[in-house]
Amino acid sequence: MRRPLFNRLLGPSVETEEVDPRAVQGRLLKGEEEAVAGAAQTRIEQFTAGRVCSRIALSRLGVTKATPILRGEDRAPIWPPGFVGSISHTDAWCAAAVARSTDVRSIGIDLEPATPLKQSLWRRVCTQRERERLATLADPGLTGKILFSAKEAVYKCQYPLTTTFLGFHAVEIEMDDGSFEAVFRQEVNGFRIGDVVRGRYLVEEGLVASACELLP
Ligand SMILES: CC(C)(COP(=O)(O)OP(=O)(O)OC[C@H]1O[C@@H](n2cnc3c(N)ncnc32)[C@H](O)[C@@H]1OP(=O)(O)O)[C@@H](O)C(=O)NCCC(=O)NCCS
Repeated sequence: MRRPLFNRLLGPSVETEEVDPRAVQGRLLKGEEEAVAGAAQTRIEQFTAGRVCSRIALSRLGVTKATPILRGEDRAPIWPPGFVGSISHTDAWCAAAVARSTDVRSIGIDLEPATPLKQSLWRRVCTQRERERLATLADPGLTGKILFSAKEAVYKCQYPLTTTFLGFHAVEIEMDDGSFEAVFRQEVNGFRIGDVVRGRYLVEEGLVASACELLP
């Protein structure tokens, strides 16, 4: 059994739950089922695992009534009033992280297989400065994947606040031994150029996990 990842990456106000989506115990609620009607089995498993994990984590914050977590047209989860959260999954692992909105303004989490970022994606994912830094490293592929994962986590964290799609060059990542800073290079509702979102990452048992949270 894998050791949980995100309780080591997020602060004490955040509740996390993780599961292998192929072995999830639980089911979707009415209203959630429609979101994956007709989808492939793996997608249904991952979606179900995300909802089940979210409900378990929410129950630790006092949400004991089974509450559907619907999906917006933008695909972002709609959390119960008074709560924030984030979901991520791969074929082999799924995680949800939630908190009270009085304690945490927004959360972003991401899981990726710990495989090198394909060279064909470097230009799309990385700014010129990031590519120059990667080129000096012994293992640029895996570092590139961590950078990609950090950007996905930052995207999910900023989205509920800005409701704005951001391309990969909108933030620039600086990494340092398990932590990262995402520096905004573009102005977007509530974030100015130079604003920083701080997060943490780890690489373990074939997965990259990244997470960030914004405090009130
Ligand atoms: C939305 C996105 C971040 C999802 O990441 P992914 O690695 O493909 O998939 P993950 O399993 O990690 O995450 C999927 C979950 O993200 C959540 N999600 C989807 N859209 C979201 C949004 N706009 N805001 C917050 N969370 C969102 C959902 O919970 C989804 O799972 P569900 O459909 O089962 O509920 C990604 O597909 C995307 O569009 N990225 C492009 C933008 C970007 O990353 N920019 C970086 C610069 S900031």
